[in-house]
Amino acid sequence: MRRPILAANWKMHKTTGEAEAFVAAFLPRVKDAAADVVIAPPFTALERTGRALAGSDVALAAQNVHAEEKGAFTGEVAPGMLVDLGCRFAIVGHSERRTLFGESDAVVAAKAAALFAAGITPIVCVGESLEEREAGRTPEVVGAQLDGSLAKVPRERAAEVVVAYEPIWAIGTGRTATPEMAQEVHAFARGRLRERFGAAADAIRIQYGGSVKPDNAGELMAQPDIDGALVGGASLDPEAFSRIVNFESVHAGKR
Ligand code: 13P
Repeated sequence: MRRPILAANWKMHKTTGEAEAFVAAFLPRVKDAAADVVIAPPFTALERTGRALAGSDVALAAQNVHAEEKGAFTGEVAPGMLVDLGCRFAIVGHSERRTLFGESDAVVAAKAAALFAAGITPIVCVGESLEEREAGRTPEVVGAQLDGSLAKVPRERAAEVVVAYEPIWAIGTGRTATPEMAQEVHAFARGRLRERFGAAADAIRIQYGGSVKPDNAGELMAQPDIDGALVGGASLDPEAFSRIVNFESVHAGKR
């Protein structure tokens, strides 16, 4: 049985004070969640958010990382620095990193491997563009991203990795994939993971991301291969994100 995982990706939003205010409003709303709950603030708010979350079951995550342990990499943050702040997860290969900052599958693979080595669980993002979907290339694109981005995941640790399927055309657009469309890609992705990792694929959690809101979370999460969500816009509001978490908890209780 896969324990669902709900993650807030705040992207480039929230000062330290805003992050603290979020946590203060959020924690009382998500007591005893039957899911892993994760918050990924910007680097600048990691420490204060981590302090605010201390003693709760909500885990801290980074939105990115550099693959090297240390060195002359101006502006970058190393895995060990994230460990130091209490991060248990880090997002890698988000489509915004891939398209706006030129990250290739090889770069994403190196980051995921560095996170594993540091003891942080990578949340590896994949997803096709609208053009690719309309050309019928979704399986080809997502399959290649999975193969390339997970190339350095140690086989014996494969069950720990988290994959996030985020169709680019659904991110920040209000245009969510239908539950059936998402399930189709999730099932495909799990098959691809099985080819690479064998039975461990059945333990790998695959999140859906792209305009997840409280009113569509329940039907998405009800799909057999959707094991949680990576939430952008709706995760900025404690009420909305707690409703998404609680939807998942209700559903998880029925599994
Ligand atoms: P939205 O929920 O704002 O569409 O963002 C999704 C996303 O990119 C999460 O990583």
